[in-house]
Amino acid sequence: MRTEHLTEKDIQRAADLLRSGGLVGIPTETVYGLGANGLDAEAVRRIFLAKGRPQDNPLILHIPSADWLERYCQHVPPAAYALAERFWPGPLTMILPRKPLVPDAVTAGLDTVGMRCPDHPVTRAIIRAAGVPVAAPSGNSSGRPSPTTAGHMLEDMEGKIDAIVDGGPCAVGVESTIIDLTCMPPRLLRPGGVTLEQLRAVLGEVAVDSAVTRLMGAGERPRAPGMKYRHYAPKAPVTVVTGEPERSAACIARNLEAGDGVICFDEFAERFAGHTVEKLGPASDKAEQARRVFDALRAFDSTGVKAIWAQCPDPSGLGLAVSNRLNKAAGFHIIQAP
Ligand code: TXA
Ligand code: MG
Repeated sequence: MRTEHLTEKDIQRAADLLRSGGLVGIPTETVYGLGANGLDAEAVRRIFLAKGRPQDNPLILHIPSADWLERYCQHVPPAAYALAERFWPGPLTMILPRKPLVPDAVTAGLDTVGMRCPDHPVTRAIIRAAGVPVAAPSGNSSGRPSPTTAGHMLEDMEGKIDAIVDGGPCAVGVESTIIDLTCMPPRLLRPGGVTLEQLRAVLGEVAVDSAVTRLMGAGERPRAPGMKYRHYAPKAPVTVVTGEPERSAACIARNLEAGDGVICFDEFAERFAGHTVEKLGPASDKAEQARRVFDALRAFDSTGVKAIWAQCPDPSGLGLAVSNRLNKAAGFHIIQAP
């Protein structure tokens, strides 16, 4: 199913597919998701097959409102409701203790489950019509950049799933922020559209998991199992250059070789004429950078570039999410511009 003007009937069809064990691509404000009935272990297993996803990487459950939390979670702390009140529907996933009815196939056997209420009216309507929570990872093949349009999701999933609901391009562009509420202080597991500063304004102290800012060693187990995989990887190796934009651009210009590609802020694109350039957005506009980052990484796969050099924003606000995605694409191969 790909329709520009979604009707009540389309929503019913998507809900029916989910209820009958199908796999449906769903639009959200962050990235497209690959949804299945989160209470149907068999359907959930098919998600892993379609993505080629490692079995030890748990899925999150999507619900239409915070009043569904207690159906699937227990010991829900007041902090969860405070966050839901402030940020839901929106790009925030909370890790909470699960109830036994949530299948092991969803949680990869963990006793916690990630809960998210997406800010896309069509997807919330589909979940309500289905009457079940929707388990959905990002709709890319495992290891590829997350899809921010229905077309991108089709590239990865054509022939492997039952439908994609086209709800337009994603407004945020990077996956949801994940906060673990089962530990004290609460811990940021993945930066996203809700910033660390915004979380601290509600919760006070928030720890940042080390997987956010550095490469995990072979024997290490990050709290969000997915953070240990080399994600968002284009085919060519990526080097991230941090520092003040003028300096990072100069550093890239010095190192760039013929046949290399560049991801840069709009202001610097002309400086790299003759190379394949993907613009990340204006240096001062991190929201645009978040919307662009996966498209930029994905775009290089249809080119023959040998290596990719990427300018990177500072880590404040949305910059933490943008830089995390670039750094992961680079396998944390990062140069600080002198
Ligand atoms: O924005 C998003 O969150 C998108 C859209 C579709 O909602 N979904 C998404 O799902 O990004 P996925 O599966 O690509 O990423 C979920 C991350 C993985 O890194 C996984 O390891 C982690 O959440 N996760 C899931 N359940 C967890 C749990 N119980 N404890 C810790 N981490 C968990
Ligand atoms: Mg993903």
